[in-house]
Amino acid sequence: MRRRAGKELSAGGPPRLETGRLLLRALTPDDAAAIFAYASDPEVARYMVWEAHRSMEDTEAFLDLTMSHYESGDAPDWGMVYKGDGRLVGTCGFVAWERGHARAEAGYVLHRGYWGMGLTSEALRAMISFGFERMDLNRIEARCIAENSASARVMEKAGMSYEGTMRGREFLKGEYRDMKLYAILKDDPLRPSSR
Ligand SMILES: CC(C)(COP(=O)(O)OP(=O)(O)OC[C@H]1O[C@@H](n2cnc3c(N)ncnc32)[C@H](O)[C@@H]1OP(=O)(O)O)[C@@H](O)C(=O)NCCC(=O)NCCS
Repeated sequence: MRRRAGKELSAGGPPRLETGRLLLRALTPDDAAAIFAYASDPEVARYMVWEAHRSMEDTEAFLDLTMSHYESGDAPDWGMVYKGDGRLVGTCGFVAWERGHARAEAGYVLHRGYWGMGLTSEALRAMISFGFERMDLNRIEARCIAENSASARVMEKAGMSYEGTMRGREFLKGEYRDMKLYAILKDDPLRPSSR
């Protein structure tokens, strides 16, 4: 029978993870201003399902939801702290954790001032290792709007494979959008922890 790493792992928030340049830690209500700083940027929100935050109330509502996910032991979601300056510069985490299928989907967002440094691929590699080793996942997926080439590159650089484009899959911000699907399996030979 498959081992169930699950609720006990994430109840109360996810454990800290560390990479070369990042600390991944649970979010707290005190992070609202740092999150608003990037979530209010229309360029950051452009390919996300959510609209750019218009006020701190939007950010506080996001944090309330995150705290309730922590309490219910939902899929883990981390704040990304850049060790270089100690700032919380983004979030990354799993959504749609299907325990019965040992599958989850990864997502991430980063402050525009930190784009292009390879930080998100570094975070995603750590998440992938965590997903396979601590959540006992068999498959980790990620999707992006087809035009979001930066996000597709992050998935590629983290060792995920392109599996195809799902045409008109989501109605986002007023139009049907094609979505690219990437995935990595626990037994894929090139997965980050086995490199
Ligand atoms: C997608 C995103 C997370 C990438 O994060 P990142 O840490 O900058 O990723 P990387 O540094 O590994 O760069 C990935 C790619 O982004 C692109 N990129 C780099 N700098 C960039 C910049 N200043 N502006 C736009 N794109 C840039 C490049 O194509 C790069 O690929 P390369 O390394 O082969 O040149 C970030 O752009 C972001 O937060 N975007 C808005 C939110 C979003 O789209 N999230 C994903 C939803 S599916």
